[in-house]
Amino acid sequence: MLSGTGAIAAAVGGADGTNSGPQFRAVARGKRAAIATVHPLATEAGLKILADGGNAADAAVAAALMLSVVDGHNSGLGGGCFILARAADGHMVAIDGRETAPAAAHAEMFIRNGKADANLSQTGALAIGVPGAVAAYHRLSTELGTGRWAAAAQMAAEVAADGFALPESYAARLKGERSDLQKFPASREIFLRENGSPRLAGETLVQSDLAKILEELKQSGPDAFYRGRFAELTDAWMKQQGGILTADDLASYRVRFREPLETKFQGHQIIGFPPPSSGGVHVAQILSLIDRFDLQQLMQQEPAAFYHVVGEAMRLAFADRAAFLGDPGFADVPRGLIDADYLAQRSSLIQLGKRIPLVREGAPPGIGIDLFGRRPRHTTHLTAADDDGNWIAMTSTINTTFGSKVVVPGTGVVLNNQMDDFAIAPGVPNAFGLVGNAANAPAPGKRPLSSMSPTIVLKDGVPVLTCGAAGGPRIISATAQILIRCLALGESVDQAIAAPRIHHQWVPDSLVVERELQPLIVAQLESMGHDIQRTSAIATAQAIGWNAESGFVATAEPRLPGAAAAMENE
Ligand code: DON
Repeated sequence: MLSGTGAIAAAVGGADGTNSGPQFRAVARGKRAAIATVHPLATEAGLKILADGGNAADAAVAAALMLSVVDGHNSGLGGGCFILARAADGHMVAIDGRETAPAAAHAEMFIRNGKADANLSQTGALAIGVPGAVAAYHRLSTELGTGRWAAAAQMAAEVAADGFALPESYAARLKGERSDLQKFPASREIFLRENGSPRLAGETLVQSDLAKILEELKQSGPDAFYRGRFAELTDAWMKQQGGILTADDLASYRVRFREPLETKFQGHQIIGFPPPSSGGVHVAQILSLIDRFDLQQLMQQEPAAFYHVVGEAMRLAFADRAAFLGDPGFADVPRGLIDADYLAQRSSLIQLGKRIPLVREGAPPGIGIDLFGRRPRHTTHLTAADDDGNWIAMTSTINTTFGSKVVVPGTGVVLNNQMDDFAIAPGVPNAFGLVGNAANAPAPGKRPLSSMSPTIVLKDGVPVLTCGAAGGPRIISATAQILIRCLALGESVDQAIAAPRIHHQWVPDSLVVERELQPLIVAQLESMGHDIQRTSAIATAQAIGWNAESGFVATAEPRLPGAAAAMENE
């Protein structure tokens, strides 16, 4: 049992100099518990709960609620999430808190004059799916936690009411989204100054309406949100603005318990999130597609070949994603996508030294027969673990920066634009350039396909690693690369998370590489036929590793001022 305060291994460094909470390193080690998030106040909230005797599930809930206040452009009460958890008794739980399409949604809802209009799926009333985050956080708290929901909501409410200093990264995003935020009076009032200019780094952001909602959540739990004042205000606003989300949609929202997806890689059990996330399926595909290569030898002798092989595996995986993936309650998602023989046959398409000229989706076995889902069991990536054996991997999102940009007046809640994760028309790219077809078309109550990939790795049944990321489709490639580096190349979790990343999502047909990747490797990849696009950072990942000797290593994304912390035994 966790009890008492314990020594906290978290010290100065990392963050960006503003008064935005305590400062944590990107890497922290300790034997008792560990947590990694993108914001020091969220990490601190989790630590406080742990120090008070809570477990990793309680800490993850506290961090998630705090992120809704201090990182509201990325995730929050108005969004959704997937939570993969391993309980102390060893059972695995996958809580699907993904948004659903409102009951009045339909496949042509974003078509105007015969053309798909991405403005409608990305900004404003129609972009908004029924939020699932509140229900899922609460469910994690009741299923695996130790009754600390109110304490967690209280901490978040206090920071919302008192304010926090805007970090550089938040201020930069505000600047980027200013013109769309300007369109919605409540968003404007919270995030912009009176003259319409964006608030700046270091300025204190107070969110009184959000504080009130969090107080209500503290008092009454999720009913305050799904049946209370939030639901009433949202229903009325939607009616005024031509939206379709109703109080009934909110009242009928339910989290789903999914069957975690288990595959094998390099002697480990990889536990991933099943559809409506595409993350688990495609991380598993990528790992399996490259498993026939001697990855360690490639990395040592010919690193360009390593990146080539991984990039080709991503291309093959994303081609399948566009063809087959969607909410398993609506679309027939074949289990054959992770069939070993199918993946061996797909892997044989990958040639060393030469790009596959044209990649199409494959023909997995059991199409139309052996499917994911259909059996719901009623029912910013952060991660936490404790020495009781509770491990939490939670990816939570409102989709793109500030979601739909909508805050319904009086609520302070930034609403998602997750409807854009549907294929708004066949082959029409979404905000991340992803394409899809009927499997992922909008339909009433359907969950838009996601790339979120919360992952937990077991060795002989013992949890040894957890990771996941933010970054749209790049989540899948970043998660796969961290797993490949830790499990196939033998790197430590902090090395693996810091290493240069690549990404390929089939369409567009380009291999995206981080600028840190050596120029010689990039030139060799070009000579193999890859169209190279350079970028500064692919995804924002968080991970925790564990071994019996040194305990936990919590690692926040080093590409950003993230916050990792760990606790020692007393
Ligand atoms: O569920 C998904 O795949 C996307 N809505 C995730 C969005 C995301 O990661 C944005 N982050 N940078």
